[in-house]
Amino acid sequence: MGLSRTIFGMNHTIALIAGDGIGPEVTEGVQRVLAAVGAPLTWDEHPAGLAALERGLDVLPDTTVNAVRQHGVALKGPCTTPVGEGFSSVNVQLRKKLDLYAAVRPVRSLPGVPTRYDNVDLVIVRENTEGLYSGVENEVTPGVVMSMKVATEKGCRRIAHWAFRYATQRRRKRITVFHKANIMKITDGLFIRIAAEEHRSQYPNIEYQEVIIDAGCMRLVQDPSQFDVLLMENLYGDVISDLCAGLVGGLGVVPGANIGETHAVFEAVHGSAPDIAGKGVANPLALLMSATMMLNYLAETRGDAACRACGEKIRRAYDLTLAEGCKTRDLGGELGTLEFAQAVIDRL
Ligand code: NAI
Repeated sequence: MGLSRTIFGMNHTIALIAGDGIGPEVTEGVQRVLAAVGAPLTWDEHPAGLAALERGLDVLPDTTVNAVRQHGVALKGPCTTPVGEGFSSVNVQLRKKLDLYAAVRPVRSLPGVPTRYDNVDLVIVRENTEGLYSGVENEVTPGVVMSMKVATEKGCRRIAHWAFRYATQRRRKRITVFHKANIMKITDGLFIRIAAEEHRSQYPNIEYQEVIIDAGCMRLVQDPSQFDVLLMENLYGDVISDLCAGLVGGLGVVPGANIGETHAVFEAVHGSAPDIAGKGVANPLALLMSATMMLNYLAETRGDAACRACGEKIRRAYDLTLAEGCKTRDLGGELGTLEFAQAVIDRL
């Protein structure tokens, strides 16, 4: 594990994957804020995605995966995946290789970011290793292709258990499972059966609800405040994350973590945004929020109170920055990526 003690306290070595497109830009902004707050972190940078291919390496080099294994924690920028052809997603590969089965994505309304709702406070818990992202796709015969949706009892149980434990620890009141078990009776049927069992047998104090996902989407955009923790399988979680981002200001403000039993990779929900890459205008806040989740994770798993204090300072500083109207263009402001990072640093 990437942990050492100095005379000043703990220091954590973090695997850093800057990624593609806007990845290096937002990563630089976030590193500046973390340095300014004095977070006890040392970086071990490794490439993945197009950045790795450009250096003549594999798209996901073993050295990169091994660095995450060694240090236990990574901060990651987005990696580009070609559409309809080419290599398979680096993000999906990394989550599978490290068995990062729980994707957790908090979505909340922010001060100074006016949207249709001002009271959104949701957490999406997405199963991250199974479902239609199992990658089992083939051509059965010319003109007929198929993709296999895989659900295992073990996979369903561990994500349901993770979600209920998370809800309990964070004093959340209700878990809603989004599913399509009316159509996918066996796969989604297993997912809800196990979630309901987990609720009944271990977590009866958390309210539990099952909602068919299409109706759930309508209810989300009508009144997101009726939901608390949303639990779902892989593909639904991917789609619903972006939908929920739209409720609070967009992809520039939604962070995420991919968590397994022994490793965790923190990354924003957004992708490499090729349409704005290289222009210095991307919002670094989603990755900065992911970094504060990382600091909390280090505090919880390694007992480092300094990390929690740094995370709290950063959160207060970015809330204040936004409340004072300092914003990047995606939120209607004028600041560039590093200017926004500096505005946060000025308020630490
Ligand atoms: P995207 O999230 O990159 O972009 C969607 C829209 O949101 C674009 O208009 C973009 O400019 C905007 N946007 C995203 N992040 C932003 C930020 N931080 N600040 C301001 N605006 C932002 O999604 P898209 O275009 O579907 O995917 C682009 C590439 O990213 C694809 O290759 C995809 O596979 C990959 N991707 C990677 C992810 C990851 O590494 N975890 C996650 C999602 C997509």
